[in-house]
Amino acid sequence: MKRPFARLIGTGRYAPERILTNAELERIVETSDEWIRERSGIRERRIAEPHETGAYMARHACDAALEGAGCSVEDVDMIVVGTATADRLLPSQACDLQALLGATNAAAYDVSAACSGFLYSLAVAEAMIASQQARNILVVGVERLSRVTDYTDRTTCILFGDGAGATLVQPASDGSGILSSYLKTDGRLAHLLFRSGFGASEPPSQEVIERGGFFIKMAGREVFKSAVLSMADACDQALQRAGLAGEEIDLLIPHQANIRIIEATAKHAGIPMDKVYVNVDRYGNTSAASIPIALDECVRSGRVRSGDIVLLVAFGGGFTWASVALRW
Ligand code: ACO
Repeated sequence: MKRPFARLIGTGRYAPERILTNAELERIVETSDEWIRERSGIRERRIAEPHETGAYMARHACDAALEGAGCSVEDVDMIVVGTATADRLLPSQACDLQALLGATNAAAYDVSAACSGFLYSLAVAEAMIASQQARNILVVGVERLSRVTDYTDRTTCILFGDGAGATLVQPASDGSGILSSYLKTDGRLAHLLFRSGFGASEPPSQEVIERGGFFIKMAGREVFKSAVLSMADACDQALQRAGLAGEEIDLLIPHQANIRIIEATAKHAGIPMDKVYVNVDRYGNTSAASIPIALDECVRSGRVRSGDIVLLVAFGGGFTWASVALRW
């Protein structure tokens, strides 16, 4: 049997209505709209209201994906959620989503790979389809980063936003689908981007709270350098494994962390910026949700068309990085 084993059919997204602009951040921390735009490309990001839980946002994204796919929720037999900010530590985000969706015939579980979580989940879904363990898999990326962001830390609070994206993955039937995938990890660099507090090794205590252990900590400059190198590696690997050249890519959808990382990735892969989808200006970094949100925008606006070759590439905490090449 040859690839493609699995295709993506139907996409959806959910973005909270509340917009946090750079001008508002100027009033919260010592920063400026100009600095944020120049260093990151971000103009605004979405922030979930109390009722917009991860499960709630993911449910809306999944409803839209199922509608687009013409698939009923009863037919969903698996749900894979990429997230680093699940509503609670136990059970998984996927269990709460399954209940909210009423997807009673689905096995549901999370994949933890930070900003690479959606592509890791997509690779898992493809393998589940190829091994005939499932036929209708909802693959979701959802994050509520505003809940774990320290709004007194200007080096991180300007970056993150909330949202959800989803797609339905089914067995390939018409030649469209996943052509190659690549997953990579370097756990030795975990100390550059992490959130250690309130896990089993650092349960809640006054000391953990006082040092901000609940919040994301990031060495931005080091993460930036690794992101550029790793996203370049991920592009090379997905192209090579699919037997494609950069010129054959119709659309690059990179993880939306920073416009400078996106530009460096496109340049390395030999893909001109007019073939690169960018929405980091409107959402900031939504971690695992960024690629499925962008993909849904591309599908609904006609930016991606049937037969197009699309390259998805991500980098995140872990460090983890990943890529998927597919024919739409
Ligand atoms: N406003 C104004 N000045 C600031 C701000 C701010 N918000 N934040 C930092 N600065 C200052 C710093 O203190 C520093 O000042 P100094 O030179 O006096 O020490 C100066 O600006 C430069 O800081 P750098 O950190 O070197 O700035 P850089 O150009 O690297 O941009 C940024 C910072 C935007 C965070 C960038 O490093 C970045 O995007 N990193 C990658 C983030 C990323 O990709 N994360 C992906 C994974 S996220 C996940 O997995 C959840």
